[in-house]
Parts: sequence; C-alpha cells; structure tokens
Amino acid sequence: MDHFLYRDGELYAEDVPVREIAASVGAPFYCYSTATLTRHFRLFDEALDGMDHLVCYAMKANSNQAVLSLLGSLGAGMDVVSGGEYRRAKAAGVPGERIVFSGVGKTEGEMRLAIEGGIRQFNIESEPEMALLSAVASSMGVEVPVTIRVNPDVDAKTHEKISTGRKGDKFGIPISRAKEIYAQAAALPGLKVIGIDVHIGSQMTDLEPFRLAFRKVAELTEVLRAEGHEIARLDLGGGLGIPYERSNEAPPLPVEFGQVVREEVSHLGCEIEIEPGRLIAGNAGILVSEVIYVKSGEDREFLILDAAMNDLIRPAMYGAYHDIIPVVEPEAGAEPAVYDIVGPVCESGDTFAKQRVMARMGAGDLVAFRSAGAYGAVMASEYNSRPMIPEVLVHGDQFAVIRARPTFDEMINRDTIPSWM
Ligand code: LLP
Repeated sequence: MDHFLYRDGELYAEDVPVREIAASVGAPFYCYSTATLTRHFRLFDEALDGMDHLVCYAMKANSNQAVLSLLGSLGAGMDVVSGGEYRRAKAAGVPGERIVFSGVGKTEGEMRLAIEGGIRQFNIESEPEMALLSAVASSMGVEVPVTIRVNPDVDAKTHEKISTGRKGDKFGIPISRAKEIYAQAAALPGLKVIGIDVHIGSQMTDLEPFRLAFRKVAELTEVLRAEGHEIARLDLGGGLGIPYERSNEAPPLPVEFGQVVREEVSHLGCEIEIEPGRLIAGNAGILVSEVIYVKSGEDREFLILDAAMNDLIRPAMYGAYHDIIPVVEPEAGAEPAVYDIVGPVCESGDTFAKQRVMARMGAGDLVAFRSAGAYGAVMASEYNSRPMIPEVLVHGDQFAVIRARPTFDEMINRDTIPSWM
C-alpha cells in the first residue's frame, strides 16, 4: 500500500494534488511520500519483532538527505557501499554505530573514513580486502568489528544483472572456503570477527531462495562456532521485491520474510540485521512527467514525455516494467489507447514501455510512473545535457523540494576549458 491515490478525479501524493506540485516545481520531478517511507520501514522493523535486530536501510536505493534523515529518526541503521554514502549517512545524522559498510571494492581511504567516523561493522567480501582492513585498523591502533559475506551459491531467481549469490557472481567469499577464511581472519590483528553476512539478489519475489540462503548461513554458524568463532551477528541482506505491475503481481510481504528469518535463524540467538532498500523506498516514490507530443508512427502511436532514460534508467537497463498512470483520473468506461511511451533522448533505448494500454493522453497532460522511489533518482545522469530533475517530499498536506533542479549554468560550469585553449 502507498499514499499515491486518486481522489476527486486526480492523483494525490498523501494530501497534496500532484498537479499542484507540478505547477510549483515544473515537470519532470520525483515525488516521495513520508507516510509510505515510514510505513515500509516499520513493516520490516515489526516483522523482526521479538528478535534482537536492526533494519539497515540500503541507501543506494534512495540517498536523498531528507529520506535518510527521516529513516534515521525512526531508528533505521544504514547499509553503505561507498565513502560518499558513508558521508551522506553521517551528514543526515545517522550515528556510526548504526552504519554497516558493504561492497566488494572498499578502498583504504574509505576504510579510514569509516573507522575515524565510527562504524557498526565492515562486511568483508574477499581475502585481500581482509588483509587491507587489518593493516589499516592496526595502523590506527584499533580493532574493527567485521562480518564476512559468504556467497552461498543460491539462485535468487531474479534479473541477471541483480543476482549476487551464485558462484559466478563477484560477491562474497565461496561458502565452501568459509572455515579456512574465518580462521585466517581470526588470526589477523585489527579485526574482530563477529558474524556472517549474506545478500543474494534484489527484486526477489519468491521466499524460497531466501530460505535456502539463510539455512546455509545457519549451518555455517554452527560450524564456525564449533571452530571457536564467536558468531553473534547475522546480516541477512536485502532483496525483497515490490509489485511493479500491480494488476498481476503480489510479492511476499515483509512479515512473511520475517517469518522465514525466524524459522531459519532465530534459534541461534544472534543479533539480526537486514538491509532492505527497494521495499522501503520503491513504492514511496513516483516520477511525474508531462506529455510533449503524441506522435503517429507508421504502425503505432508514441507518447513522447519530458522525462527520459537519463532520469529513470530502469526500463532501458533491465527491461523493467513501471506502471504509468495519468495524473487526471480517466473517466470510467473511456476507450483506452495503446502507446509506445518514450523520452526525448536520441536513442531507441529511451523507451519506457511498448504497446502500453492506457487512457488517451494529449500534449500537456501529466503522467506518473509508479514505484520510482528506489533506484530512480540515484541512478540518474545528465546524458543529453539534461539537468538532474528535482526531488520533492510530501508530508500530509505539505510538500518541500528536497533537491532543487540545477540551473543550466550550474550544469555547464562544472566543466573547465584548459588554459592552453
Ligand atoms: N544489500 C546489499 C549488499 C546490496 O547489494 C543491495 C542491493 C541491497 C542490500 C538492497 O537490495 P534491495 O532490498 O534494494 O533489493 N539498480 C537495480 C538494483 C540493484 C541492487 C543492488 N544491491 C534496480 O534498479 O533494480
């Protein structure tokens, strides 16, 4: 459930007509709902009720300072994957002891930054990373908490580009070598091994792969404990999917995911961390765009929008589906049209949807892409010299611009012409 609903014939974001935001900010723009973000965080928090736990929001999904500050104030931790994300989390007021650092390529500088600023744990993904972190921590005279991410060789049954837990994927250490690598880690100065980490993929709509992976982690916990390691914390990653095509998708709910966690690992008495990103932010955001033209092609009609692949890359990059709905509610029984919905960027990949059935639209009409709150704004670029679009946060009957649209000069003046020219 989200808070973007039709009321009195038009789309509202909570208690604000989307049309009003568009009139004030100008299309295209992203719009997020405070109530939906809050609700989704709480659903995960409640799903793990009764277990010692921390929900570490995977901020790669949406890292706007206002979003982080809101979730941080609700008690969320953060899962960060770069020095930039670490800085953003800290800038939004999230304390170091609630930040976990994931990712396969942490640099020495990033390690130092997080150790200096405070960190809950590093999730280590390889032997060379382990050696470097040991050297960095030792040189700083500290011991840092670490988990080791294992690759359980489980197929997440999701899109190829967002599967991370099969043996050919670049993530984690092979679970088959875990005993040996944990022994190495335990012997290294500067590291305090406290647990196990796993994350097998994103937009997962089946709970079975989660169950398989968690079961392997539980078995490994017993094995490592028998070897004398103190396994006190399990980071179970993120990955729970959302319904992008609402008319025919109903992925499992956080409470059902929580039940799998309970069944597979609660007997171990570990502190549990999870790292959901998409499910917290995805359906808490829409992308609002205006129709520039309706163009008749040889055998089809094109709806040409003012948003493009640089604003929302998911359809071009993953063939992802997003519901696209008119901001003015269509009349009941009105004859629908069929469109290829495209942006103005100069490549055919700039296509949001092919042969989409929707209400008949005209130039100047507004549409909303649903489920655009995660991996939308954060993956945007300025391709075709299109400035990044603004982000707006709604709270009840109020709204605020939480990232302004840069001016063309700001965009252009980031470049420098060398003095020799
Ligand atoms: N933890 C780790 C270590 C991750 O790599 C990810 C996502 C998450 C947590 C959060 O997963 P989520 O709950 O959001 O599924 N750009 C792609 C998604 C990439 C996901 C990358 N890792 C998309 O637009 O579908």
